[in-house]
Amino acid sequence: VNEGKDTLSSEDLSELLAAGTKEVHEKAENTQFVKDFLKGRIRKELFKLGAVALYYTYTAMEEEIERNKDHPHFAPLYFPTELHRREALARDLEYFYGPDWQSEVSCSPAAQRYVDRIHEVGQEDPVLLVSHAYTRYMGDLSGGQVLKKVAQRAMKLPPTGEGLEFYTFDGIHSAKEFKQLYRSRMNVLVLDGDIKKRLVAEAVKAFQFNMEVFDELEEIGKTIQEDVLDAGM
Ligand code: HEM
Repeated sequence: VNEGKDTLSSEDLSELLAAGTKEVHEKAENTQFVKDFLKGRIRKELFKLGAVALYYTYTAMEEEIERNKDHPHFAPLYFPTELHRREALARDLEYFYGPDWQSEVSCSPAAQRYVDRIHEVGQEDPVLLVSHAYTRYMGDLSGGQVLKKVAQRAMKLPPTGEGLEFYTFDGIHSAKEFKQLYRSRMNVLVLDGDIKKRLVAEAVKAFQFNMEVFDELEEIGKTIQEDVLDAGM
């Protein structure tokens, strides 16, 4: 029984994660790739490569979530119909790369480092999977609708939503309410203060993996010629 003596263990995990990633969130928002994206400066070839990186990331994450869905440190956060993105990303990639998309795409070095960490966590330290799920799904539910509209306009994608299924959560009516539910579920996990600290550190790491993917895309962008880009648009 927590008698309130230990302030850290009595603090809500949702609050600790939000506070502990505030600084790295600001850093992520300020990477060149993300800033350009928000301004509608999105090049389709890079956007497609971003979707590829997300496909490998969510494939790894959702594989490890399935493995750990009954683990007491993850079970309350298991919402496959509402949250899981792998199939939506597969449809987006089919739209962008065609029916043979699977032979056209591969996992980039930065995405592979992220994927490797997710598998390591899922198999050796599954409690830390919470940090990875938090970083991606809560972020997707927060910024998704804005990013979807920006991308749709910038790349002149069809209003039907093709190519942007990743940003559409059909099973969630109110992102705000779902985020509240998800936070309350994080807060019922039985975790001592030491594990909470490790969870915050892992969430910071998850943000850093995402930033490495953005920086990699930024570097690739510098090597793609404008005429190729124009043709791709
Ligand atoms: C939350 C904006 C990038 C992960 C939020 C919220 C905003 C926001 C406004 C708060 C929403 C709310 O309180 O209801 C942005 C913008 C970004 C960006 C403008 C740049 C395009 C990212 C990235 C990640 C991320 C790159 C990680 C991959 C998160 C997470 C939350 C969040 C985990 C939930 C925070 C919490 O309530 O605990 N974001 N974000 N965001 N974002 Fe971002």
